[in-house]
Amino acid sequence: MCNVVDFNTDEYHYKLPVIYGTFCEKAINISQLRENTGFITFDPGFKNTGITKSSISFIDGEKGILLYRGYPIEDIINKCSFIETSYLILNGELPDTAQLNFFSEKIKKFHHIHKDIKKILYNIPNFYHPMGILSSLTYILDAFIQCLQEEDLYLHLLAKLPILAALTYRKKIGVPPSHADRNLDYISNLLKMFFSIPNQSYEQNPIISDALNKILILHADHEQNCSTTTVRLLGSAHSGLFSSISAGISALWGRLHGGANQAVIEMLETIFKNGGNVNKWIEKAKNKKDPFRLMGFGHRIYKNFDPRAKIAKKVAENVIQQLGISDPILDLAKNLEENALKDSYFVEKKLYPNIDFYSGIIYQAIGFPKDMFTVMFALGRLPGWMAHWKEMKLNREPIGRPRQIYIGYKKRNIKK
Ligand code: SDX
Repeated sequence: MCNVVDFNTDEYHYKLPVIYGTFCEKAINISQLRENTGFITFDPGFKNTGITKSSISFIDGEKGILLYRGYPIEDIINKCSFIETSYLILNGELPDTAQLNFFSEKIKKFHHIHKDIKKILYNIPNFYHPMGILSSLTYILDAFIQCLQEEDLYLHLLAKLPILAALTYRKKIGVPPSHADRNLDYISNLLKMFFSIPNQSYEQNPIISDALNKILILHADHEQNCSTTTVRLLGSAHSGLFSSISAGISALWGRLHGGANQAVIEMLETIFKNGGNVNKWIEKAKNKKDPFRLMGFGHRIYKNFDPRAKIAKKVAENVIQQLGISDPILDLAKNLEENALKDSYFVEKKLYPNIDFYSGIIYQAIGFPKDMFTVMFALGRLPGWMAHWKEMKLNREPIGRPRQIYIGYKKRNIKK
């Protein structure tokens, strides 16, 4: 293992220190580069740039590995609840029974949504996308929550975001709100708040609860993805937790990021409506002149397979089979995946299905409308965002302020 990398130009001979991670991933530490050589680095999209050291999650894109605080996602998905996983991601260790009960019960204490927040929600036009609403209401929560304990802020968000999401959904479909139920666990309460019918008792379906629990766990954290880095960047400026999370929700909304799960179903429905000829659409996706991309395919890090997509595919198959749903979209998705993975363009560019390729099918089977899919992604990613914001603060990281290469005008004077 080398400890330095020589940086040699005609003028400079500088030794750049090398740092190594837990699994020996290596990085050249360029934090003193400009000062010592006058050079900066250039890396649009940060494809080769590490912005921090983190112990929350680890991805090996070549081997298709994802760990949360060292535990493989395949282990967590079968042995933990989403709330246990949230505790693990936020605190670094799995909770014992007493810790889990305390954590769960404390979240329930923060179920209350101020009436004026509800007034704001009920004055937002119904056509507005639920991600825009969630980001706005998360931001304004800050005006209504005065609490001294920072740890409680995390629990306020874990408690309130599902309620805001359910209120948004029920307002949109013209159904009165269903209030949080302290007697239910996190997942059951979320489902009841969304889908209970007024004046009728809501019957929990274990198949649906299990699918939702799993899909939220799959989204809980994912290193420095666009929205998580957004949250860290705001936190580095000492912006508050709520505004940082609000910005993370806005970043996740993008079609290339969390918005892809909605775009995947819309794409599959379009292919289905146009006769289901997947090869025609695969060719379209390969055509550089055509802006169409195969949504749910490709990933900045995973160049082999996304372990979450493998699990999500099984969850999708199970929930549809167990609920007895005949969903032609799932069949079309599997057909599209099979054909794309045989195509040299996708093989050479290492484009495989990512988490978003199957997650929409699961949300649809559970009963969520398409425009709520990315909201569910946000509810899953919330513990990860908060853990990164907390880690960045504990590390006392400097304000994020990248450099640039200027290519504009030379200095000139105003002639008048
Ligand atoms: C998520 O970062 C994370 O961890 C994100 C996420 C998380 O958990 O937070 O995993 C969640 O955002 C998953 C990604 C969801 N987005 C989509 O499914 C949208 C479709 N995918 C692409 O837009 C793309 O693959 C990205 C955005 C996911 C990755 O983009 P990159 O890494 O910048 O790769 P690129 O755009 O430079 O593509 C490399 C090549 C290009 O061809 P060339 O210019 O080299 O000839 O692959 C092609 C691209 O045109 N390509 C695709 C493609 N994805 C990449 N071609 C057709 N269809 C696609 N989906």
